[in-house]
Amino acid sequence: MEQPNYNTFLNLFSTSVISSLIVFCCLKGTVYYLTHLLGGAIIKSIALKLNHITKTFGKNTVLREITLQVEAGDIFGLLGNNGAGKTITIRIIFGLIKPTAGRFSIFDQLCPANLAQAKRLMGGLVEVSSFYPNLTGQENLSFLASLSSFKPTKKEIEKLTDKVGLDSHLLHCPVGTYSHGQKQRLAIAQALLPLPRLLVLDEPTSGLDPEGLIAIRNLILELNRESGITFFISSHELDEVEKICNKVAIIDQGRLLKVATIDDFRSKPCFNFKVEPVNLFIHFLQEKKLSFSANKDYIAVEIEEEDVPAFLQELTNLSLKVYQIFPEKAPSLEEVFLQTVKGPQADASPLGN
Ligand SMILES: Nc1ncnc2c1ncn2[C@@H]1O[C@H](COP(=O)(O)OP(=O)(O)OP(=O)(O)O)[C@@H](O)[C@H]1O
Ligand SMILES: [Mg+2]
Repeated sequence: MEQPNYNTFLNLFSTSVISSLIVFCCLKGTVYYLTHLLGGAIIKSIALKLNHITKTFGKNTVLREITLQVEAGDIFGLLGNNGAGKTITIRIIFGLIKPTAGRFSIFDQLCPANLAQAKRLMGGLVEVSSFYPNLTGQENLSFLASLSSFKPTKKEIEKLTDKVGLDSHLLHCPVGTYSHGQKQRLAIAQALLPLPRLLVLDEPTSGLDPEGLIAIRNLILELNRESGITFFISSHELDEVEKICNKVAIIDQGRLLKVATIDDFRSKPCFNFKVEPVNLFIHFLQEKKLSFSANKDYIAVEIEEEDVPAFLQELTNLSLKVYQIFPEKAPSLEEVFLQTVKGPQADASPLGN
């Protein structure tokens, strides 16, 4: 019997080992790449997580098991009436008071244990900030910055205050002479000083005039879009929240009632139809798998406005007679808020603040 050639055996062996290694590396690379790709697409980091946060003062429980999470990149609105527990929640996040029970984390820094590390990642303001009234805006900001690790130059401070719409001459006036809105803008500039990844703002637009309101709104949107800053904002101003937030939580008497995206709060576009014969119309809607609900006189169909002309054409082709069509008004955030807090009988009267 012919002995196998040793060199051929070695060649075959090394070729198969090398090809196995190449296949292994390719597979490993693909798996790594896919994991990375999928991970990047699916896993969003969590900027703020509240886990069963409860706070009691004596016998009075002002927060009950609040659990929610804010993803990095969110502009998250915390809505609630006076005394609902918004400021208490924010004071707990800043470590100004301790929760009676529960934990929270800021970019994976578990708190209260790692509060010092967590604080380096966030900035913010709690209700009306306190400044030294005899120092100028510039001096206040420089002093407050000196307490943190971030040391901005005068130019950087000017740039920041310009960004929040504070007149440059005001920077050199004592803060005691500022109006409420001007102090509010200075407070937001102060919150931005450490270049935070998460900004927690308690009622940032309260007491601002319409111009100030627009300036702060645009600033928040710009900082979120261009610097990727995540926002956690408490507010009464539902219109503002609707304009800037992508997610909203509603709390009432310390209880979390609802968390949803701003789109979920709005109902889908809907049109009411009066069509004869009704049974054929319903059959047609079922065939097209459209969501609808029937009330006494009309059938409300979830349909986009741009699809209505083609939809009407189809009805005409089927010899269905359309007598009336009109859009259903989507409820405002205010209506949803009142229904959530007071139940479905609530009317949409303005919030009493
Ligand atoms: N230090 C405290 N001791 C006792 N109760 C407190 C204390 N601080 C707040 N509370 C109570 O906790 C509840 C929630 O207060 P919080 O300030 O969080 O309300 P809020 O939602 O911020 O209201 P607002 O819209 O008026 O600012 C209130 O009933 C308040 O009286
Ligand atoms: Mg408050």
